[in-house]
Amino acid sequence: MIVAEGLRKVYRSGDVEHEALRGVDLRIEAGEYVAIVGPSGSGKSTLMHILGCLDRPTAGRYRLEGIEVTELSDAELARLRNRRIGFVFQSFNLLARHTALENVELPLLYGRRTARDTRRRALAALEAVGLADRAQHGPQQLSGGERQRVAVARALVIEPAIVLADEPTGNLDTRTGAQIMALFERLNATGTTVVLVTHDREIAARARRVVAVRDGRIESDTPAASRPAAVGTEAARSRCGGSSRWRCAACGRTSCDRCSPCWG
Ligand SMILES: Nc1ncnc2c1ncn2[C@@H]1O[C@H](COP(=O)(O)OP(=O)(O)OP(=O)(O)O)[C@@H](O)[C@H]1O
Ligand SMILES: [Mg+2]
Repeated sequence: MIVAEGLRKVYRSGDVEHEALRGVDLRIEAGEYVAIVGPSGSGKSTLMHILGCLDRPTAGRYRLEGIEVTELSDAELARLRNRRIGFVFQSFNLLARHTALENVELPLLYGRRTARDTRRRALAALEAVGLADRAQHGPQQLSGGERQRVAVARALVIEPAIVLADEPTGNLDTRTGAQIMALFERLNATGTTVVLVTHDREIAARARRVVAVRDGRIESDTPAASRPAAVGTEAARSRCGGSSRWRCAACGRTSCDRCSPCWG
């Protein structure tokens, strides 16, 4: 699904050149769950932006679902991105003056859908992340975790083939981060390809494959020893052993953020 060969990216500011990617080869099959790790400045976000068609490489080839992305015009690139890719950023990137619902509707506005269908899909996406009752709230009326869940809903609303997330839990506390991760795991369990950048070892360990980037190159690419079972399944429950239990502040239910997150 993703085939990148010899990706290079050079940033120029004035006379200064910086080679952020120095020849990256990466192949990701449909349905994979990949964590990208590496030190700050190693090129992770640069790589994600290229994979997400938000930016172009300076050199190299990138094929997404058989399409040679590097040969597309800007308009074609934007169309491909809007149809196939959901992107989640560390800083949420929600529009401040719009409600949660309007933020989630945004990616649908590029297509030819009726206003009613757009609203229905956006509401369904908000419901999927447990935020249907916050639809009319603005981002400033939401907690960090809720904002990120809106951002995830915005990524999901187009039913993307691939979800790319750049440090999606970087601004969240551990428990809220675990809820966001549970969302990605559920998504992956239904066949969506998930690629995420993380600094968190525990999060990386839950992926099926860990790609380590250093100085603009892939340093290692290793399959995880044993992938945790999909969230919400009996296998996950028995494997977790209740090690990360917590009580939901809203509904009082005891839940486990590894196997059955409670949205309260
Ligand atoms: N627009 C830009 N112009 C110039 N240099 C840039 C630009 N964006 C990134 N860089 C540089 O490219 C290198 C890789 O940046 P990148 O954002 O990909 O790193 P990263 O691995 O995501 O780091 P972090 O973990 O801190 O987010 C860094 O040295 C950075 O300073
Ligand atoms: Mg980054």
